Amino acid sequence: MSKVVTLNEFIHDRQADFPFATGELSQLLSDIGVASKVINKEINKAGLVDILGAFGNTNVQGEEQQKLDVYADNQFIDAFRNGGEVCAIASEENDDYLPFDNEGSRDAKYVVTFDPLDGSSNIDVNVSVGTIFSIYRRISTEGSGKIEDFLQKGTEQIAAGYVIYGSSTMLVYTTGKGVNGFTLDPGIGEYCLSHPDMKAPDDGRLYSFNEGNYNTFSGGLQKYCDWVKEEDPSTGRPYSARYIASMVADIHRNLIKGGVFCYPATSGSPDGKLRLLYECNPMAFIVEQAGGIATTGYERIMEIQPTTLHQRVPALMGSKNMVGKVLEMIEKYG
Ligand code: AHG
Ligand code: MN
Ligand code: MN
Repeated sequence: MSKVVTLNEFIHDRQADFPFATGELSQLLSDIGVASKVINKEINKAGLVDILGAFGNTNVQGEEQQKLDVYADNQFIDAFRNGGEVCAIASEENDDYLPFDNEGSRDAKYVVTFDPLDGSSNIDVNVSVGTIFSIYRRISTEGSGKIEDFLQKGTEQIAAGYVIYGSSTMLVYTTGKGVNGFTLDPGIGEYCLSHPDMKAPDDGRLYSFNEGNYNTFSGGLQKYCDWVKEEDPSTGRPYSARYIASMVADIHRNLIKGGVFCYPATSGSPDGKLRLLYECNPMAFIVEQAGGIATTGYERIMEIQPTTLHQRVPALMGSKNMVGKVLEMIEKYG
């Protein structure tokens, strides 16, 4: 029987990848693991306790906030504030970033952006949801974090990852040296390395678009959605449609099986729906590290200079050749 490697063992073994590492990043990643276990427990009993359903508030994007969104947000904020490695956070659930003023955090060297609960419309129906996070080294030199610490390009990410609360719970992360996935063993309460060095297949047959928005897609995307339905055994078409409406779950599946995920500009969301800082950049980092492509259709997501915390961008990511085909259609038909 091969030895089980836990997330903490793995993180600490990999610390040597960073020659000047002082252990703070390792500690921060461990903190995220612990907070996600607490959230996992709460999600598992979502149908049982009076925590399910709308909280009665709307967040900065005008979306109805679910109780678990707030719960997960608070868990992560507490973990980061108490951990001492982070000088400020920004999350989907807070209009502005949150500087940490407490003694232990004030001069810490990292900031974190996160989507505490992704796919929250799926909570009520027992379908996979996720958490997404991104870690940056601060730019400002002292005190609690500042806005400029957050408005960094995705290429500056030190680490990023997601947790998927699915049929099993997994934590997947990268520090820019490949992607590794850990499955939570509920028996021992530990994340165990289950998907070492994850690689996205270059090709696949799964496409993940919300085709309900077809009429508002650009010409190129409409052409692609028509093309995948044509019968052509030599290219494996027709492809299969797979769309969960939790980007974490959609992208996770496509990373493993091969596929393309797209949330483009639509008439309802002219800049796309997904947020650059805590949805698109971290997922793009993972996808690229797994050998895939992450673009808006016109530029590499990680090279966009952010201007605001909750900025939205179109997202097209996944298997290299599949994204390539979509780009070809965009080039030809707009
Ligand atoms: P969140 O729950 O954090 O607001 O994110 C939901 C996002 C994303 O995960 C998903 O891909 C997309 O919204 C689905 O949107 P549609 O229902 O418009 O397809
Ligand atoms: Mn989300
Ligand atoms: Mn969310």
